[in-house]
Amino acid sequence: MGEKLFEDKCGACHLKSVYIKEPMDDFLKEGDKTLKLLAPTGNQMLNELKLKVGNKDDLKTQLEKTSELLIEYTFNPDIMPNLEGSVSNDEIRDINYFLFFIDKYW
Ligand code: HEC
Repeated sequence: MGEKLFEDKCGACHLKSVYIKEPMDDFLKEGDKTLKLLAPTGNQMLNELKLKVGNKDDLKTQLEKTSELLIEYTFNPDIMPNLEGSVSNDEIRDINYFLFFIDKYW
């Protein structure tokens, strides 16, 4: 659910995770020629958000707070285009949930 949303709404610019084999090979062997990362990857985002809020022993609170930050950023970004109207708060919560656990997923 969150994964599909992420691919649809954010995937044009954000890769899910740098640990995907193909982009890593490209990055390391071909000097990022084909890929040219446009934007931070999904797992980079969430790692950053997790550092800002809560603590990892209280996952429920941390999950809620990272969702709030992600919503806030998506509708008030500095460089990235504002996605207001193209994605809803609930969809961002689903995306956050997916990204939150992505490190285990890969
Ligand atoms: C049209 C391209 C584009 C789309 C679509 C897009 N982003 Fe971004 N996003 C960017 C760029 C470029 C940056 C880097 C901006 C910067 O350097 O400050 C960014 C940065 C971010 C950051 C900050 C990451 C960090 O580590 O500082 C977050 C969070 C983020 N995007 C979330 C999202 C979410 C969630 C979606 C989907 C709902 C999304 N973005 C869709 C281009 C996009």
